Amino acid sequence: MTEIRRATPEEWEEIWPIFQAVVASGDTYAYPPDIGKEEAFTAWFNPISTVFAVYLDGAIVGTYILRPNMPGQGSHVANASFMVNPDQQGRGLGRAMCTHSLAEAKKAGYKAMQFNLVVSTNKAALGLWEKLGFSVVGVLPKAFKHQRLGLVDALIMHQFLD
Ligand SMILES: CC(C)(COP(=O)(O)OP(=O)(O)OC[C@H]1O[C@@H](n2cnc3c(N)ncnc32)[C@H](O)[C@@H]1OP(=O)(O)O)[C@@H](O)C(=O)NCCC(=O)NCCS
Repeated sequence: MTEIRRATPEEWEEIWPIFQAVVASGDTYAYPPDIGKEEAFTAWFNPISTVFAVYLDGAIVGTYILRPNMPGQGSHVANASFMVNPDQQGRGLGRAMCTHSLAEAKKAGYKAMQFNLVVSTNKAALGLWEKLGFSVVGVLPKAFKHQRLGLVDALIMHQFLD
């Protein structure tokens, strides 16, 4: 049985191996692939983010954060980041988390959601975000240093929540 709910900092022990495995491949996130546990904790459980996790039979198999994309006059736009345990990818967990995040963002009063750095070669993410209503609104040329492919474009994706 899967369930998505808020995660606590105490659950970092369970979330960290997922974060580490996702980031280590250097092909989806702009965190250093060899980031340490403490630095990663600060990045995920930071004061402006709400952390959620998806649980499969009680065990954490994925996580996402929801936060304002910008402070002040840009804070009506939400931003979110998603990570699914590599062993569990492709089973609908990312779709479930993103759908959940859109509902949470609406509930929190955000007017839109924006992703700032979707790696153009990340076809699973790009395809999923498009299916869930996001459009590419900008291309950042060679903005991502892909561990295997070198410099590749990154995409800004957006959708209104009304
Ligand atoms: C991206 C990510 C969150 C998606 O979660 P997931 O649980 O693997 O994905 P899901 O199983 O929910 O959905 C995958 C969808 O993408 C589709 N998909 C999978 N691989 C694809 C590909 N190569 N090209 C296009 N679509 C693809 C699937 O068909 C599925 O669509 P459906 O729901 O209509 O059947 C997850 O793979 C992940 O954590 N990746 C590493 C980190 C990452 O890239 N995060 C996002 C950064 S923008």
